[in-house]
Amino acid sequence: MKKAAIILPTYNEGGNIEEIINDIFSQQKLIENWQLEIVVVDSCSPDKTGETIKQLQKKYHHLHLLETPKEGLGKAYKKGFEYAFNKINPYLIIQMDADGQHDPKKIPEFLKEIEKGADFVVGTRYSKGGSIPKNWGIHRKILSLGANFIIRFGFMKPQVTEWTNGYRAIKTWIIKNAANHIKNYSGYVFQVAMLDFAIINNAVIKEIPIHFEERKSGISKINALQYSAQTFFYVFSHSPFIKFVIVGIIGFVIDFGISYLGIERLQKPVWIITLLSTETAILSNFLLNNFWSFAHKKIEGGPMKYFLNFLKFNLVSSGSVAIQTLGLQLLVIIFGRKLWYLYKILIIIFIIIPYSYILYNKFIWKSK
Ligand code: GDD
Ligand code: MN
Repeated sequence: MKKAAIILPTYNEGGNIEEIINDIFSQQKLIENWQLEIVVVDSCSPDKTGETIKQLQKKYHHLHLLETPKEGLGKAYKKGFEYAFNKINPYLIIQMDADGQHDPKKIPEFLKEIEKGADFVVGTRYSKGGSIPKNWGIHRKILSLGANFIIRFGFMKPQVTEWTNGYRAIKTWIIKNAANHIKNYSGYVFQVAMLDFAIINNAVIKEIPIHFEERKSGISKINALQYSAQTFFYVFSHSPFIKFVIVGIIGFVIDFGISYLGIERLQKPVWIITLLSTETAILSNFLLNNFWSFAHKKIEGGPMKYFLNFLKFNLVSSGSVAIQTLGLQLLVIIFGRKLWYLYKILIIIFIIIPYSYILYNKFIWKSK
């Protein structure tokens, strides 16, 4: 029988922990193929959550307690994973809040999805059938929705609706491989880092809708300001799309810089300088995208492969030039020349950026 290790991080969950553990173990009879093991990672809660666990261990043999210093949610989870790998050797890990916000009745559904082939199952509050508490204040709703929106579009993965919720089932190999990637994220942001890692490594992601209940007792431990800042920083520093836009801006500066130098200062023929400036910008874009924006899908296979992909890259870039030239000319004919720069910016944002991003991903930096 395969083992599923449920990690329950706790800090002052004395009012909730007994009920949640009873509820989780009561699911065992509904799942024949899986042995549930619970690892409570308690950060020495002053309210003596740990003592309750020790009492419950007399009743439940599949209940483990790991006591850690209080170092944040991400750190607590990492220690819980290590404990589970060493002591339990599970096939998968289930992550859950220990405050009743995540309904244990959903556990069989998570396991079903794993049996059907998923590697990483996320309980989503933001697709059909999911929900957040109605009485949440407006600032909390905006924060949660806003964070998910920024991550979803920052990573250009609109199909993944939930990045932050902590109700998940994850196959062990993903967590083991992610160790290095998540090691520096000790707070709540580690949830985003883990899912991002799984997607980059082609894990099969499946979402199931869940109702995110109100906490049964106690208060949330989240530090909203710190969490938002860390999430924003994570997306900014890891999003291939944002890097791709930055590379585009660098390309523009190179192109413009060489043109200015050659045409204005050195008085060289315009066509030679334009050829030189655009091709230099194209080469810089190609290299920066390859070694930075799409580093996780870097071109492999020797110089010939590089050369062929560079030719393709030039083809896509010529497409951009053609679209810009024709598009701008068309808009100028229709609306006049006065606002040409505005039209140019709109064409770049709404046509050139999506066009290049999609084509790069489809033809040059394909998923491995
Ligand atoms: N051991 C330990 N150490 N446990 C902690 C710590 C810590 O430093 N900080 C929080 N916890 C425990 C809490 O006791 C709770 O069981 C669980 O981790 C989640 O913390 P909550 O305080 O309930 O957070 P939340 O409900 O506001 O946060 C939810 O949303 C986050 C972001 O969307 C959860 O679903 C999180 O998992 C999620 O990341
Ligand atoms: Mn919670």
